[in-house]
Amino acid sequence: MVEKRTAVYTEAMLESMKKVEAARAANTAFEPRRMTAEEKETLLATYHPDYKQSEFEVLKAGVNKGGKVPTELAALLQGKSRISASDVDLSKIDYDVDVLIIGGGGAGASAAIEAHENGANTMIVTKLRIGDANTMMAEGGIQAADKPNDSPAIHYLDAFGGGHFAAKPELLRKLVCDAPEAIQWLNELGVEFDKTPDGTMVTTHGGGTSRKRMHAAKDYSGAEIMRTLRDEVLNRGIPVIDFTSAIELILDENGKCAGAVLKNMETGELLVARAKTVIMATGGAGRLHYQGFPTSNHYGATADGLVLGYRVGAKLLYADTLQYHPTGAAFPEQIFGALVTEKVRSLGAKLVNANGEVFMHPLETRDVSAASIIRECTARGNGLETSDGLGLWLDTPMIELKGGEGTIEKRIPAMLRMFGKYGIDIRKEPILVFPTLHYQNGGLDITADGMTGVENLYAAGEVVGGIHGRNRLMGNSLLDIIVFGRNAGQQASEKAKTVTLGALTLDHIAKFEAELAESGVETDVQSPKLLPDYTRKV
Ligand code: FUM
Repeated sequence: MVEKRTAVYTEAMLESMKKVEAARAANTAFEPRRMTAEEKETLLATYHPDYKQSEFEVLKAGVNKGGKVPTELAALLQGKSRISASDVDLSKIDYDVDVLIIGGGGAGASAAIEAHENGANTMIVTKLRIGDANTMMAEGGIQAADKPNDSPAIHYLDAFGGGHFAAKPELLRKLVCDAPEAIQWLNELGVEFDKTPDGTMVTTHGGGTSRKRMHAAKDYSGAEIMRTLRDEVLNRGIPVIDFTSAIELILDENGKCAGAVLKNMETGELLVARAKTVIMATGGAGRLHYQGFPTSNHYGATADGLVLGYRVGAKLLYADTLQYHPTGAAFPEQIFGALVTEKVRSLGAKLVNANGEVFMHPLETRDVSAASIIRECTARGNGLETSDGLGLWLDTPMIELKGGEGTIEKRIPAMLRMFGKYGIDIRKEPILVFPTLHYQNGGLDITADGMTGVENLYAAGEVVGGIHGRNRLMGNSLLDIIVFGRNAGQQASEKAKTVTLGALTLDHIAKFEAELAESGVETDVQSPKLLPDYTRKV
């Protein structure tokens, strides 16, 4: 599991590591205090990337005109369509379904299963393959208040406070109240959750939780959940059109969502999918690399759903708030930005600066933890230089001092393997971390039935904004893809029974471009982006 050392530490790293080792026993016993509300506010305002005004732009066109979003996202939202209406023959229908699901991650798959269960003619379209999604990359676990000392009400309070009291109450209520049933559903579908020999689910803390309610499948919880959902979709025979992106939504003459224009990613062929209802489940935006951050996201996370929804008039909520996971790998460079699960800290590892000092409580909420690491590395100069930037230590050997030998291999084997590939044995050595772009807190605004502001257009998963407010707690995303994915599938399939479609149209494309021109937006950006561009510019 630990291979020959290929990671080459600098002298400064090796010197600093000695300090971390020397202080380890005392640091393990040390109980750092939590920050006060005032301390957190000041810290966030000064160091969290969401507060860096120069990185945001005010939208000049569309339903969120006047609202602020990251500059990179503004360019896409106010970009031009990849097609004009005349490129597509809307009388030639390639796919005709009740429920069209755009996106093949956890939310899309959950939606498909429920829509199919409700008897709907359901289809998934995905620009990569089913399971190529942030769900697959999720590590630490999924929250649900299903233990005797816990309740959905306590879960609600934790998440509401962690999200700066900004979550839409009806969405958060649904999230926490449906959570125990979501775990049971997954368990019955075959997810291999960590359990004690008597079958009790093992649960741990995450940042900002007052109860241990994180259910996990070691440190590859998302992969295990996605494996199970994908099997269920395929076993049910639900059609999955892969390597095919949605590049524009189609409305009907009454302004209701009625399908999508699809593009075969290999041949470029355009196809028309007509649908009585559409569920947007395209996930996040990490591959836009806001503010130059690396990302823990999968290759296709390019905010496509926000762009497609925005262009037909679906409102965005909190699109100015992103989540920078505190512990992205900062070294070695081959895994720069990869997720180092919060579970590492749940199990006892603390954050330690270059001088070997513990400088914060390890389980503050994510935004606070990320800002604290950034401050320690930048303003306080207590970080270490890596080939890609800065980093400080996450002292993983503390886990075995606290939990006993074998804990790391048993509870976080994927972390052991990820660093072990470069000869770093996390049971014996600390690892270098720095925040990585992880999650899009904002997105399409929905009501509790999962519908956006555009009739018959539903949304589920990371593309949705408002469930978590302005910051999300660990494990509430795997939860929301299940709760709101299933909900969207149920609601959209039920609605489809009542829908009679009018004539299809792409008139919104010209309308939006006219609005861009009137608002003085000059652009040659085409959107949605579909895939990131990592070609070197010479
Ligand atoms: O740290 C983690 O394992 C990430 C979990 C999450 O984003 O919910």
